[in-house]
Amino acid sequence: EDGTELAIIDLPKLFGDQFDQLPVVMRLLLENVLRNMDGSERDNAVQSIFEWLTTGSSEAEIAFQPNRVLMHDTTSTPALVDIAAMRDALSEAGLNPELLNPSLPVDISIDHSLAVEQYGNKDAARFNIDLEIKRNKERYQFLRWASKALTNVKIHPPGTGIMHTINLEQLATVVTTQVRDGVTWAIPDTMIGTDSHTPMINGIGVLGWGVGGLEAQTVMFGLPTMLKIPDVVGVQLTGKLPSGVSSTDLALTVTQRLRQLDVTGDFVEFFGPGVSSLSAGDRAVVANMAPEYGATTGYFPVDQSTLEYLTMTGRSATHLALIEQYCRRLGIWFDPDACPRYTKQIEIDLDALVPSVAGPRRPQDRMDASEIVNALAMVDFVPKSDDLHMPKFPVAIAAITSCTNTSDPKLLIAAGLMARKARPLGLKPPAWVKTSLAPGSPAAASYLQRAGLLEDFAAIGFDIVGYGCTSCIGNSGPLTQSMRLAQEKGECKAVAILSGNRNFPGRVNPEIDLSFIMSPTLVVAFGLTGNAQVDFNKDPLGTDLNGQLVFLKDLLPTDSEIQEYLLKGLDTKDFKDDFVLATNNPLWQAIQVSESPLFPWKQSSTTLRRPPFAGVNEGSLLGDYTAYPLLVLGDDITTDHISPASAIPPNSFIADYLVSKGDDRGDLNVFASRRGNWEVMMRAAFYAKSLINHITSDLPVGHTLHVPSGKVMPIWEAAAKYKEDRDSVVIVAGERYGMGSSRDWAAKGQRLLGVRAVIAVSYERIHRSNLIGMGILPLVLPIGVTPNTLQMMIGDTVSIPAQKDQIKVRGKIVVKITRINGNVDEIETDIAVDTKMELELLHFGGVIPLILH
Ligand code: F3S
Repeated sequence: EDGTELAIIDLPKLFGDQFDQLPVVMRLLLENVLRNMDGSERDNAVQSIFEWLTTGSSEAEIAFQPNRVLMHDTTSTPALVDIAAMRDALSEAGLNPELLNPSLPVDISIDHSLAVEQYGNKDAARFNIDLEIKRNKERYQFLRWASKALTNVKIHPPGTGIMHTINLEQLATVVTTQVRDGVTWAIPDTMIGTDSHTPMINGIGVLGWGVGGLEAQTVMFGLPTMLKIPDVVGVQLTGKLPSGVSSTDLALTVTQRLRQLDVTGDFVEFFGPGVSSLSAGDRAVVANMAPEYGATTGYFPVDQSTLEYLTMTGRSATHLALIEQYCRRLGIWFDPDACPRYTKQIEIDLDALVPSVAGPRRPQDRMDASEIVNALAMVDFVPKSDDLHMPKFPVAIAAITSCTNTSDPKLLIAAGLMARKARPLGLKPPAWVKTSLAPGSPAAASYLQRAGLLEDFAAIGFDIVGYGCTSCIGNSGPLTQSMRLAQEKGECKAVAILSGNRNFPGRVNPEIDLSFIMSPTLVVAFGLTGNAQVDFNKDPLGTDLNGQLVFLKDLLPTDSEIQEYLLKGLDTKDFKDDFVLATNNPLWQAIQVSESPLFPWKQSSTTLRRPPFAGVNEGSLLGDYTAYPLLVLGDDITTDHISPASAIPPNSFIADYLVSKGDDRGDLNVFASRRGNWEVMMRAAFYAKSLINHITSDLPVGHTLHVPSGKVMPIWEAAAKYKEDRDSVVIVAGERYGMGSSRDWAAKGQRLLGVRAVIAVSYERIHRSNLIGMGILPLVLPIGVTPNTLQMMIGDTVSIPAQKDQIKVRGKIVVKITRINGNVDEIETDIAVDTKMELELLHFGGVIPLILH
């Protein structure tokens, strides 16, 4: 803008003939390495990328240095609590606490705490946002303190939207500048986020991915994030989505296909001519679900559609010109005919896609929408009464929710058009359905209003309930009374219908085990029927005012209708103006903040407690030891099992603890709001109704057997007893341990329980890294060995010779299981440590001691 000439790394020149072979994500990684690594380290990395070109894979490590960090309120709170406590430690050591500041910009979006308390009325959004601020005031006071006391920390207050939507609409620059040694460089906008859906930003060509809060702490203090040169999986898209098939259907199809392929930890890139037929909004939906397909990224390169999206959201023409020039010059502008080298690749024909749903318990279980009837028929449930007041599988929640499907105006406009067509027919959801519309940003209210669809939504109960994660993160609020009563009596089994990305049992609501993911349009359809077990190909959606049956096809909007209303509704200035307006929320501005560089902890607080610095006092957990298994678990243990986010059950030992400290049992809020209080989170570790602990059967929720005493007790008490007796503990688990979100409390909780190692069949990427960030050793069982085949009996112990010098990057270690009868089994496990940096973290005992060091 000011005429400065910008320097760039000339990648095409460096790679010559081989440049075309490099996937675009690899080009971006390479740019980052060349800019941030020096000397032989850099030469080695470049050499490894040449090798990767030959074999499609590499074991070499590279250092990725993103430009910025994005967090949300529930992952940032524990990270900032750690930083506040580290500042105290510096001060107590006679050092200046203000020396400790993030060196990268950190954006924190307060989006995870909004609950759907009110719904179905026009004041619901105001009510829910105001209540959220009131309920979480102490935590928000802390976050505001952090944004004042620490440099580089910026908060986006409640009501400004969901972090990934804010990232798309406000924060992403795609190309930015950096001054180094007097030279101004044009560089790609790169980032990490403490939320697994961070790859949503890959939809507009920004390279970024989700990491745990612990890894983010190292990055924000200037350390790179180390990674193995990734395998890159190419997804070739051909054709064009048929009318009536949405980007949600594509995202669910991609998730199913890639889960079958197993792309865990890989970078995924979309290529081929079908990419050009997708809008940037469509691409962001598909990129968003990268953690559901198991990948680190779901990358779409920049092209004209990206620029159109950036124009729609108010980016300047000068900046767009810079993006285009830079991307073309660096060779990262999308070419639909390009066919780079990928480690593996698959093809998806967009023409062949159909409306889809996924569930009832995992996002990868996609089916044609009509098959939901069969999926529910497989559920083992017999109503206790024949006198049913509602369907056997009623829709308890119909939620248009989540960053995935509420950030793209096209999806919301399509759902609004369904409402527009249903309204004059007198169709309405039955009273047992809890309906909600929680868009990713406040701009949605403006464009829906301008298009005239907001009233249509309201007429069928889908009033806006606020701008945040809501039902997607379990903040769905209480179910309707009729629904609760019917379920309590065993008359029915409640089903949640949502436009989210995850449907693990209990995630959306603790009283719901069955959930289906789908597009906002289908959410409206299922909401209107109130019955989850319908086949819209033949079953009607309802009856109109004249007694005529109404079918889904009667209400579905056409592509041209969607386009017409998009044109009517969209106005570029909404994206900036509504965001600024929400940022200036007077209730937020009125929160009093301390000006001190040290946080004034309150002894009486049940929200924020100075943490005992897990990992600092105790140091490294490596060494030779014999341990009891604290828990023996099966496959698919999610971070929701390990550290729940949803409502704190009022009749639990955790509630008893909070009440003993003065809290009101009737208003305990959710676990996620207590992540600043380690005493709650330690008690909450593994508190999940659906968790099966194979140590012994019929354990109450959150309990285990303390083997030496033979007593069943809360897991945290058993862990404390083991600690008191100087016994070590480990966890044994099945496949995909730690799948789900990036929450670091899932690892911190295990550290506070004294877990020294986890021995699992496999790990989800972020959780494995979080375990290492807390100094816990992740070991992988050999092929064919599972917790089942191990046949652990009560009294069996596990010996691990985990001396520092024996723990190597991707090394092996022999674990001995001493059976209660004295027999010993030896198992050679893989050490799931991928980089030297991770090794160092284990040696130090985790991230916090490393930062303090
Ligand atoms: Fe929030 Fe759900 Fe997205 S929790 S960030 S809306 S995945």
